Parts: sequence; structure tokens; C-alpha cells
Amino acid sequence: MKLDLGSLELGVATAATQVEGGNADTNWHRWAATPGKVKDGSTPARATDHWNRVDQDIALLKELGIRHYRMGLEWARIEPQEGVFDPEAIAHYVDEVKALRAAGIVPLVTLHHFNNPGWLEEHGAWTHGETVGVFVRYVHRVVNELKDYVDEWITINEPNVYATNAYVFGEWPPGRKSVPEAMKVMSLLAHGHIQAYQEIHKIQPHAKVGVSQHLRPFDAALPYNPVDRAGAATMAYLFQWASFDAMAYGRFRAPLKGSATVREGKYYDFTGVNYYTRSWVSGVAQGTRPNSPMNDMGWEIYPKGLTRLLKTVSRKYPGPIYVTENGTPDATDSFRARFIFDHLQAIMDSGVDVGRYYHWSFTDNWEWIEGEGPRFGLVAVDYDTQERFICESGRMYADIIANSGVTEKAYSRWVEPSASSSIVGKPQDPEPPIRRPGPPLL
Ligand code: BGC
Repeated sequence: MKLDLGSLELGVATAATQVEGGNADTNWHRWAATPGKVKDGSTPARATDHWNRVDQDIALLKELGIRHYRMGLEWARIEPQEGVFDPEAIAHYVDEVKALRAAGIVPLVTLHHFNNPGWLEEHGAWTHGETVGVFVRYVHRVVNELKDYVDEWITINEPNVYATNAYVFGEWPPGRKSVPEAMKVMSLLAHGHIQAYQEIHKIQPHAKVGVSQHLRPFDAALPYNPVDRAGAATMAYLFQWASFDAMAYGRFRAPLKGSATVREGKYYDFTGVNYYTRSWVSGVAQGTRPNSPMNDMGWEIYPKGLTRLLKTVSRKYPGPIYVTENGTPDATDSFRARFIFDHLQAIMDSGVDVGRYYHWSFTDNWEWIEGEGPRFGLVAVDYDTQERFICESGRMYADIIANSGVTEKAYSRWVEPSASSSIVGKPQDPEPPIRRPGPPLL
């Protein structure tokens, strides 16, 4: 065996807004309807039409031997108007998780993944304290409805990415540029998580509940330069650790704000790590390390960062750890196989007992303001025809699952011929070719 994965279980991840398609009234549907907001002008109304193709996609998961599926819910479908729940949408999700169980697949369900209902967005969403209670009411309903089939939950996905892109850079809905607002949003998301955590445990005492945290190493460009070092440490604290501490322990430190009703405690049953890249810090600027291997979107490919972060997380937040996202845009499927191998190796190198690894993503999907360009899927999707094609890296992933590791044969078949990065620095092709299309699958 080239790489033995021991007890590490492999799965795949998606998010509702990125795959379902349809015209739910979300913050993202509204944003994408405004010309210029999404790079290629696409909207989440198309995506991979997963809403109508649940059976096909579950058959595909089964074919790949996948037993852990991280999926999201579209809050706007479940509660299309404030306080009004849609029984049909709920029944659809119940059917989906039931079908997953019947296929031997364990669902890990994300309750909030950058997606607010339109009515909530209109009222300022997570800039208002009342949203916490509104979120908990939705969580209460959903958990009661799905509890026979789901007992693993992610309350919030990447609170830091959401708060930063939507409230600091203004590139995501609602397009605000205010650091104090972003800090308020991060604080309230932490309150939302803590209350949802408690609510879920009232309904399902044995449930496993966590948060998917987007983490990256922040490294000083000049390690001996005190300015770069201070910049890196400050960014890491503000971007990820302050929020992680608040969510995991109810420990709110400036600039986040707690409340008299939240006590310090332990508010996680597992920690979720989403890992993609690192930030290279020069003074107060952060970017990509020059001359590094990069993916299609220009992000540095740095597997060792995962080793480093897992060590830190296991020290700071003891308990089960899941990698809830890791993956790369690779439109020609030319380096994904090596990317997967190197990141699995990085997990094993950490010596940390990681329970699960969810690859991002199962299929290609709608990549927020990047639209349909970036191709993250182990399964490629032709958006015009909605045909699915298993990529060679997807076949490798299935083989790794079947063998609980990377065999010598798999290594020489898939990893050895694989490139290690996209063409460095090449701006992404706006219309990447569908890669290695075999016959359509289903
Ligand atoms: C998000 C996903 C996204 C992925 C790739 C993560 O930050 O949770 O929704 O598609 O990164 O950009």
C-alpha cells in the first residue's frame, strides 16, 4: 500500500445553493440577478439541477462507493416567508435523506451555507440580533422533521468567509464594506451556532454538531520581519481564531462581542476544517506566495498547510476532527489526482486522528461570484445538457475508498501521471472545456 488511511472515512460535500437549481428566493438569487455581480452572468437557477436529479446523484454516489455525503439545505425553500414553512420542500428533503440512508450513505447536513432567504436579507440578516432567534426557529423545525434520518449537523459553514466577502470586501450579497458590521455578523453567527447547538441537543441528545471553519496558514513573507509577522498573526486572529473560539467555547474576545446570556462552555461535538490554501502576508497585505504551484483560480496548492492546521486545531479544540471540505478547481482534471493524494498524505503526516475527509466537491457546481467557471467536481457536469461524467480523479477516489488507502497500482495509474498544479499564473479560461468526457453515466 502506498498510503494506508487507517480508519479515516472518505466522503464528498456539496451546498444547496451551488447545486440545486430553481428559483428559490435567496440572497444569492437576488445578487446574481443584478448584472455584473457574477463574473460569467450565470445564476444559481441552473446549477446542476440537483433538486430534480436527486435519484440520479444518489446512484452516482453509490457507484463511487461513497458512504458519507455532506449536503446543504436551502433555508429559503423551507421557510419561503418569515414564519411560514413549506411542507413540500420539507418533504423533498426528508425523501432525499431517506434515500441516502437506504443507499447506505450517512448524511451530514449543513443548515447555513452563505444562503439567507430573501426576506431575511431584506431585514439586514445577520447584522441584527433577532436573526439568531429566527435561525434557531428554522433549525428547530428542520431537525424535528429530519431527525429520523439525520443526526450529524453543521450549523454554519465558514462564518469568516461569509462575513468577510459580504461585509468587508462587498463582493457578496449584500455588498457592504464595513469592518464593524463584519465583526457584528461574525459575533451573531457565533451566537446562532451556540443556540442552534443547544437546540439540536434538546431534540437529539446524541447528535453530532459542529461548524465548518475555513482555515488557512497566514505566513509572513519575510519571516524575520516583525511587521510581516505581526500582520500575519493579526490576520489569523481576526479572520479565523477569534470566531473559532467564540463558536467552540462561547469565548468572545475583542473585536467580537458576547452577551450576558452566553456562558463559556464547549459547543461542538466535532470540529470541521475546510482547507484550500494559505495566505502570504507582507505588512498589511495578504496574497499568494510568488512562484508557487497554483490551481485554476490562482490559489497556492500547499498540502503541508493542512498538516500544520490539523495539529493546531487538535491542540486548541480537542475532540473529533473532520476535514469537511478540501478540493481544487481543475477544469482539465489534470492535477486533481495528485492534489488528493498529497492532501490525504498531509492528513496522515499530521499524526492527528482525523475521522472524516469530505472532498469538495462531488460534482461541479455554481461557484458563487465565480459562476460556472471553476470546476471542482470529481464528477464533471455539462451545464447545457446536465450530463454527468465521472472524472479520472473520481475513479481514483472510488478506488481509494474501496481499499481504505492508495494502493501501489492506484498510485502508478492515477497519481504518477498527474501534474502537480495548473499552469502557474495563467488566468482562468472563462469557458473551460469539459474534461475527458467518457460516456454519460446515467
Ligand atoms: C465554500 C464552498 C466553495 C469552496 C470553493 C468554500 O469556501 O464553503 O462553498 O465552493 O470554498 O471556493
